[in-house]
Amino acid sequence: AETEALFHLNRTLVGRRVAVTAGPTREALDPVRFLSNHSSGKMGFALAAAAQRAGAEVTLIAGPVNLPTPEGVRRVDVVSALEMRDAAERAADHCDIFIAAAAVADYRPQAVAQQKIKKKADRGEETLALVKNPDIVAGIAARTDSRPFTVGFAAETEKVIEHAQDKLTRKNLDMIIANDVSAADSGFNSDRNTVTIIDSSGCETLPPTLKTELADQLIAMIAARAPAQE
Ligand code: C5P
Repeated sequence: AETEALFHLNRTLVGRRVAVTAGPTREALDPVRFLSNHSSGKMGFALAAAAQRAGAEVTLIAGPVNLPTPEGVRRVDVVSALEMRDAAERAADHCDIFIAAAAVADYRPQAVAQQKIKKKADRGEETLALVKNPDIVAGIAARTDSRPFTVGFAAETEKVIEHAQDKLTRKNLDMIIANDVSAADSGFNSDRNTVTIIDSSGCETLPPTLKTELADQLIAMIAARAPAQE
């Protein structure tokens, strides 16, 4: 009976729909090359699993990662930032909470070569023309209609709170989770994370926590802040 009570105590997202973006994106240069980053997708996958445990109906929009799909979660696999944007916009049309945990590439090659780009024997330097990718979470947070409670992440190496607060405002987010990726045993490719949660009411720093446990804590905080359904 005690386990039963605990189970129900944590079911804070029953009846709510949550969308999560996770992992890196790959920006093709030609048929065999791409630009990307070292995001593992662990945090986003852990959040999707935690939201599902809390009773939510979860859509996980995943870039190319090596992770199993959390039980009971609907997974949409994407490769590029533009594909992730399209999938995220579709999911945001009917979700209550949108969590952007993906490490979206800021830029993509201006043109994707149809054939493998050849090395030039006579040139020791090459320049790559890049164009900016859309900001997925900012696009969703800018909505006037069917705007979900929108949560972003800020991975910073300095002035963590200041930069995160600036992102919260600039992207019109409801909440931002900031972490210092320069700290040892934290951030990218680590199982642990040290985060500060910032919203309009202030900020709260949590002690270093396993990402799987952190996900449950963050989901509880999001559930408490996201407006209840009408
Ligand atoms: O601006 P920056 O990339 O540091 O912001 C990080 C936050 O914005 C993360 O929540 C990330 O998922 C989101 N983001 C996004 N689309 C982008 C860039 C970042 O959704 N093109």
